[in-house]
Amino acid sequence: MRSRASSAELAPPRLGVNVDHIATVRQARLGDSPDPVEAALSCVRAGADHIVCHLREDRRHVQPRDVERLRGAVNVPLNLELSMAEDVVAVALRLRPYSVTVVPERRQELTTEGGLDIRRHLGRLKRLVEQFRSQQIAVSIFIDPIEEHVAAAANVGAGQVELHTGRYARAGAPAQRKAELAQLQRAARQAKRRGLVVAAGHGLDYHNVRPVAALRDVAELNIGFSIVARAVFVGIEQAVREMRALIRRGPAR
Ligand code: PXP
Repeated sequence: MRSRASSAELAPPRLGVNVDHIATVRQARLGDSPDPVEAALSCVRAGADHIVCHLREDRRHVQPRDVERLRGAVNVPLNLELSMAEDVVAVALRLRPYSVTVVPERRQELTTEGGLDIRRHLGRLKRLVEQFRSQQIAVSIFIDPIEEHVAAAANVGAGQVELHTGRYARAGAPAQRKAELAQLQRAARQAKRRGLVVAAGHGLDYHNVRPVAALRDVAELNIGFSIVARAVFVGIEQAVREMRALIRRGPAR
């Protein structure tokens, strides 16, 4: 029988780097640079396990052409975040990324503010999951770390959930942060028990990432804004390497 591995011996979570905000800067002048594809290649050189981008309904940053170029140029899995809007789903089915993450989307929001309430969209989501899976595209659903939502994700046939870490990241007082972390841990354990792969992301940065990376049931972290913001000062490869170093498993400092 295998002895129980300490958290330090566990493989670190995979790191997905979200390149949306490289495109945000480019869209500020509607030109060609900075190029999210070039950035993605740098991220991979620096140790990103996969690349993530979000094709928003309002196309405020990533464009369909970026997804197409990322799909062709990057030799690690591409995860495309998307809402259930038909035109976005059609782009995904045409371009066939390795996986998709279904997220809620509101036009007015600055970023994805919460997880998808799967229970409100059960029928549509079930069909969507089947549609993607029939094209060999893996499906993850972005949810709040709430047990009923984990159960609903398993019921609609998703293979993965991504737990929204925004409340943890925004928690001010240490006691509140601890409570949010415990909630993430419970949801991650429950998802894993149901056979789901568990990812986590949103608002994770160089100061708050370690306790989440140390959760043994979390297999993947997806991080965008903080890495791009850090890249302004140290370059994107260094920014990714620093994040990689932080998410090695081990007790949080
Ligand atoms: N995961 C999902 C599903 C997201 O929608 C986002 C934001 O696009 C992220 C992770 C990354 O969040 P952040 O940019 O705050 O690191």
